[in-house]
Amino acid sequence: MLTINLGIIGGGTVGGGVYQALKKNGSLMASRLSVRFRIAGIAVRNPRKKRLPHIPQSLLTKDWKSLVQNPKVNLVVELMGGTTTARTVVLEALKLGKSVVTANKALICEHGEELFSASEKYGANIYYEAAVAGGIPIIKVLRESFSGNRVQSIHGILNGTCNYMLCQMRESGLDFKTALQQATDLGYAEADPTLDVDGYDALHKICILASLAHGHWIDSSKTHVEGIRNILPLDVHFAQSLGYSVKLLGVVKTTSIEKKGIRPRIQVAVHPTLIPLDHVLASVNGVFNAVYLKGDRVGDSLLYGEGAGANATASAILSDLGDAALDHAFGSHRRVPPFVPHSESGSILPQSETVSPFYLRLSVVDRPGTLAKIAAILAESEIGISSVMQPEGHEGKSVPLIMMIHDAREASMNQALKKISRLKVIKAPPVLYRVENFID
Ligand code: NAP
Ligand code: HSE
Repeated sequence: MLTINLGIIGGGTVGGGVYQALKKNGSLMASRLSVRFRIAGIAVRNPRKKRLPHIPQSLLTKDWKSLVQNPKVNLVVELMGGTTTARTVVLEALKLGKSVVTANKALICEHGEELFSASEKYGANIYYEAAVAGGIPIIKVLRESFSGNRVQSIHGILNGTCNYMLCQMRESGLDFKTALQQATDLGYAEADPTLDVDGYDALHKICILASLAHGHWIDSSKTHVEGIRNILPLDVHFAQSLGYSVKLLGVVKTTSIEKKGIRPRIQVAVHPTLIPLDHVLASVNGVFNAVYLKGDRVGDSLLYGEGAGANATASAILSDLGDAALDHAFGSHRRVPPFVPHSESGSILPQSETVSPFYLRLSVVDRPGTLAKIAAILAESEIGISSVMQPEGHEGKSVPLIMMIHDAREASMNQALKKISRLKVIKAPPVLYRVENFID
């Protein structure tokens, strides 16, 4: 039986999960794949730190470089996070012709092109199933299972921390800080949780999916990102009473069909979104992620599973270990390259040009004529109102005024909001969320 010696860099939530998963299911994998995995070492910052699950001291080292360079190590597993040392670790491994398994979406999103070309140059491969949507095998699905489809849209709940927090805030009335602490304690949040709550982690993931779907590497700095930091329980509550759930959604849409040399424009963004309560994504709760994908052959499909945490992520890593080991065994380490640019290249549609319905909440003075003033400004910009709600029972100087807005261009909406904000009857900055009704 072939033995693959692993050099694991990182023994935190995911590294510990992989250690435990191999302990529990390593022999099952060996019986299925005829490959035995042996951990040669696990590099960490502080080998003396107390770890759960416990990792024997004999496996721990501070010296990731020696572990990567160890001639016995034939597969490097990068689970340290970040984009600086992690990039060096991966490049170092590739230069030695060693393939790499990583869960690091920030690294793949920001340095993917460089790392993929290094892997080609040095005859190695990069496997990154765990980088997107935890235990859901979405990379394999997009790259292999749906290779016969033109992907028309992807809507993804891609951050377990945010989805968990939004559910806890809605169902248990937790405040933002407590909900984030719980997500951190459960091992869902990034070492820097601002990546989660400000939407960047989901952005890294949706950019990877958009790149695989459209065949050209998406520059995440050209895409729109908004996190969940400013979502108030008030808006979650109002959305619910209007028949919507609020989710942090990653969105990829093709806005025009490729024809006669016209390149498709692709909308790629992450933002809080109101989705109908009867849509399947509305029932994705807690740490669960889901990817709702429309292909021109397959139609609608949904992938669902735990999006973060030690076990779900370890499941994706083990799947990559299996692929890497079989590629190694059959000498076909580039059977499925990490990313293949193809003809569906296109440009990113600026967010200001996107069109969608909106949820708008204004804090207004409760006085006759207020609604007329606001409606007049919206009408000037040819923005239609589909419904208005002024919940009763609010005291004080201002009351909430909620408007559901028909399809509108984002630039027109922002322009109108600037004018509305200047009205004397407006008492706080407007709150605006996009609505997704999943209608083509
Ligand atoms: P983590 O718990 O913070 O673990 C990071 C590990 O890397 C720790 O063991 C740390 O050592 C080690 N490390 C950091 N810098 C190092 C250095 N310079 N040299 C040697 N070791 C170093 O992070 P994590 O949650 O496991 O996440 C790891 C990666 O997986 C990240 O890229 C993350 O985005 C990704 N990911 C995480 C999840 C999840 O649910 N947590 C899911 C999917 C993907 P010490 O233990 O001594 O501090
Ligand atoms: N922090 C990430 C999340 C980990 O909460 O989704 C999984 O990628």
